[in-house]
Amino acid sequence: MTLPSSPIPKNTEVIMSLTRILVADDEESMRWVLSKALKRKGFTVDLANDGRQALALIQENSYDLAILDIKMPGMTGLDLLERIREMKSDLLVVIMTAEASMKNAVEAMKRGAYDYITKPFDLDVIDAIVEKVARARQIAGQVSLLKQELKEHYQVEKNIIGNSAAMQSIYKTIGKVADSDITILIQGESGTGKEMVARAVHFNSGRLGKPFVAINCAAIPRDLLESELFGSEKGAYTGATERKQGKFEQANQGTIFLDEIGDMPLDLQAKILRVLQEHEVTRVGGAHSIPVDVRVVAATNQELQERVRQKEFREDLYYRLNVVPITLAPLRERLDDVPVLVHYFLDRICTELSIPPKQISEDALTLLGSHTWPGNVRELENTIKRAVILSNDPMLTAIDFESLQQTTVDTEICSQDTSLEAIVDKKLRSCFTGIEKLDKSDIHSKVLQQVERPLIRFILEKTKWNQVKAADILGINRNTLRKKIHELDIELKRG
Ligand SMILES: Nc1ncnc2c1ncn2[C@@H]1O[C@H](COP(=O)(O)OP(=O)(O)OP(=O)(O)O)[C@@H](O)[C@H]1O
Ligand SMILES: [Mg+2]
Repeated sequence: MTLPSSPIPKNTEVIMSLTRILVADDEESMRWVLSKALKRKGFTVDLANDGRQALALIQENSYDLAILDIKMPGMTGLDLLERIREMKSDLLVVIMTAEASMKNAVEAMKRGAYDYITKPFDLDVIDAIVEKVARARQIAGQVSLLKQELKEHYQVEKNIIGNSAAMQSIYKTIGKVADSDITILIQGESGTGKEMVARAVHFNSGRLGKPFVAINCAAIPRDLLESELFGSEKGAYTGATERKQGKFEQANQGTIFLDEIGDMPLDLQAKILRVLQEHEVTRVGGAHSIPVDVRVVAATNQELQERVRQKEFREDLYYRLNVVPITLAPLRERLDDVPVLVHYFLDRICTELSIPPKQISEDALTLLGSHTWPGNVRELENTIKRAVILSNDPMLTAIDFESLQQTTVDTEICSQDTSLEAIVDKKLRSCFTGIEKLDKSDIHSKVLQQVERPLIRFILEKTKWNQVKAADILGINRNTLRKKIHELDIELKRG
């Protein structure tokens, strides 16, 4: 047996996908030779002199390849192979046998060895095996990456549902901007699909196959948020026992999704701005900046411009993020998407629950199509799920959605000839007969107030004066409702 003269393998790039190898043999000379040969190629090599020691090392560490002698005291290579298949099914194993008997070879392969070699062997044989294993691992890695990408791509295409003009325009924007590195700000009420859009941007971009890292800025306390985003050095704060990569570093070459960006504290907003401008991050407690190549997609369900006005959100960051704004309309403004969403969720939920497909009646669809959906698509999805689970019939009808009726827009007053608009029109005409006699001051707001006041009072009464519910039904936020109650001088009653 001779050590090969050149320590550099033929296909360096492929071979480098292997790093750590375990060699188990009870013969010391064999361990020594293999270890020396493999270390010269740059691998980390661990040695075991019997099966049990090898098993312990495999349990503790992560290896790319194990080269095992078939005959070892205590536990044979074949028994060990069996245990490995149970424990670490992706660890590749090469068995060394002292005799080229077909029995051994067949047995080794049957038990899941990747290959076997017979002793004595030339180290060229080891070279060839290492290269073969490396190539197999690389291909396996690529296949699993491709499978993952395909799965995610497929899911994204299948999942964003909606044919309304509003959604069509969203699809167009995604198509136009996905491939560039432009920063995107997605706005929309809770449950309108902001995260879905962020994923669609990533999976339709050249960054497909690279990480998509999401972080919810509202869910993490201020003190932790900074190190979550930018990472931290060991000892940067109490409890920082190890150096930690931040989300920006993790998302390198991919996309970071900054969800609920409106809740980010002002001082961190300044740091985000720096990343966007300089393309580098500094870990908490770190002295150097680290370059990052990350596409930023941010989302919020707050009125970000309003927060800018109130000095709670940096104006410069707002403009830097808002290069391409995508605003998702609330579901109540695209009710024509309801039927297609309902059918989609119905099919998907029945499949997920492994139950026969269910149908939905026309009256149920009409009811769902006139609900105001304060929780948007998420609420619709949950409503369908609840009905599917609770109903034993193959056909869902309006009765299965009874709990929705409270917040459904009254279809009576919205019917063609008695629509609210028609009533207001008639009333205005009778009130304002001689236009020249009208007091011209502020008619617009006076009329709006007269419509708004009874509307808000009516919804408050219906919700037993629960302002959270009323704001939801009205589709305005709670602060706006409070402001309006004050401005319109609405007298509050207890529920
Ligand atoms: N157009 C759509 N087609 C299919 N499913 C949708 C659509 N929009 C939203 N959904 C579903 O609704 C749920 C909420 O979507 P998503 O998490 O993207 O909303 P969001 O706007 O990020 O909400 P939040 O502000 O509460 O985080 C998810 O389960 C998602 O699958
Ligand atoms: Mg979200």
